[in-house]
Amino acid sequence: MVKDKDYLFKAITEKISQTDFVGFPFYYPPIFVWHKAKPEEIKTAWKRTINKGIEKVGMYIHLPFCLSRCFFCRFPAHQIKNSAQIDNYLNLLEKEVKFYSKIFKSVSFRSLYVGGGTPSLLNQTQLKRFFEIIYSYFDFKKCIQVVFETNPNTLSYEKLKLLKKYKVSRLNMGVQTFDDKLMKKWGRSSSRNSVYKSYQEARKAGVKYINFDIMCGLPGQTLKSFRETMKEVIKLSPDVVHVNPFFPNPLTGFSQQGKRLSKKEMEKREEMNDLGRQMLLSAGYKFLQFEDLGKKDEARNIQIADTIEHNSPFLGLGMAAMSHISGWGNYLNFPDLEKYKRGILENKSPAYLQCKYRNKIEEIRWYIMNSLRYYLLPKKRIYKLFGEDIDKVLKEEIEYLVRRNKIINRPAYLQSKVSNFGAYLIFSKYFYSKEIVKNCQKKLEPIKKRKKIISNEELKYTPL
Ligand SMILES: C[S@@+](CC[C@H](N)C(=O)[O-])C[C@H]1O[C@@H](n2cnc3c(N)ncnc32)[C@H](O)[C@@H]1O
Ligand code: SF4
Repeated sequence: MVKDKDYLFKAITEKISQTDFVGFPFYYPPIFVWHKAKPEEIKTAWKRTINKGIEKVGMYIHLPFCLSRCFFCRFPAHQIKNSAQIDNYLNLLEKEVKFYSKIFKSVSFRSLYVGGGTPSLLNQTQLKRFFEIIYSYFDFKKCIQVVFETNPNTLSYEKLKLLKKYKVSRLNMGVQTFDDKLMKKWGRSSSRNSVYKSYQEARKAGVKYINFDIMCGLPGQTLKSFRETMKEVIKLSPDVVHVNPFFPNPLTGFSQQGKRLSKKEMEKREEMNDLGRQMLLSAGYKFLQFEDLGKKDEARNIQIADTIEHNSPFLGLGMAAMSHISGWGNYLNFPDLEKYKRGILENKSPAYLQCKYRNKIEEIRWYIMNSLRYYLLPKKRIYKLFGEDIDKVLKEEIEYLVRRNKIINRPAYLQSKVSNFGAYLIFSKYFYSKEIVKNCQKKLEPIKKRKKIISNEELKYTPL
């Protein structure tokens, strides 16, 4: 089936970028061909998987509120109107928790990731309530990592001590830039001072690891400003640094104002991304496995590492949360507050879309596309997880990509040669099955047939 399909795969990638609302553009099949969720089927799938005696189960919880909506943000979150909104959301979350707690009675979760939105927006009473709900309905005795996303200007020393008390071991701080003018321009309510203050307080409170999120390639951001930010990052020395190239999906204020990144802006984004990596490498940071740059492997995101290394499942709770049931498939909660509420109150489940693997090879395709983005994929891991020889089951796809110089095929591993994420998303689609390609084609606007293979330049600067 694999022929020169670059143009089609670029079109599918663009469609994903227009429909993505959760940040999983590398998922197979793409979310725009998923089906309506069936809560009973999901429940049975979890029970079956749990009965097999699964280990290393993760939990993701989405808290979708922020002080203000940043101009660049691509995640599902709402500007908060009043604190009661959070209380109401916690009421719903508790109902969802109750629904799953019976199913997960025998499971001890290994990791908890609290993301958003801005989880640190919860006041101390709400934070206590949130953790009491989670820890009383589920078993976290064997948990080795709790990650909590924060916006520095919503933190206080008291909150940080509370987070430490509730076992938060890695704080993800949304720093974005140290340039106050840009912060303001991007609609952020935080400032350089608030970052310094909360960073020092988080260290004092004893939170084990701190991760900084830094944006690059935003309109108005100069190379000079980015370099200055990176210098300050290195001076502060957080444990992990994510340099996030700006991807303007439809949830961003940028796209909603009808703007598009120009080729020049995309080039600048790449330049900043490369510069950020170089600066961090020179300062002694290294690529952590299944992570960005950091200092120690223990600081990496354990939930992602478990999913890649062991194909471990994770349960997603809250609006727009994704769940992965190994051996079955993936499903997503409603990305809209009202529908999330209705789902819980009417069906006890806010599941919205699901995609069940049709067979083991489909799961292997999902697995490869998800894990090859970390460059190296040992074949014996695939054999151990799925009992299949990748060179036999995906022979045609692998040979084609080797011929196109996109991957290296060695006896022990596959290696991606594409370092640009946008280009990776296009080439990894050569692992799509014929049926899924057809399904995607049906959902695409009619596209002009183009025979020629698109140029590397064109592939490199994908807005995604
Ligand atoms: C869900 S946000 C949580 C951070 C926290 N709410 C804050 O802003 O301080 C996670 C991170 O994704 C990154 N991000 C948000 N929008 C993005 C976009 N359009 N492209 C790339 N990265 C983005 C930002 O660096 C952000 O810190
Ligand atoms: S970047 Fe963070 S604070 Fe800004 S809108 Fe997104 S989630 Fe909210």
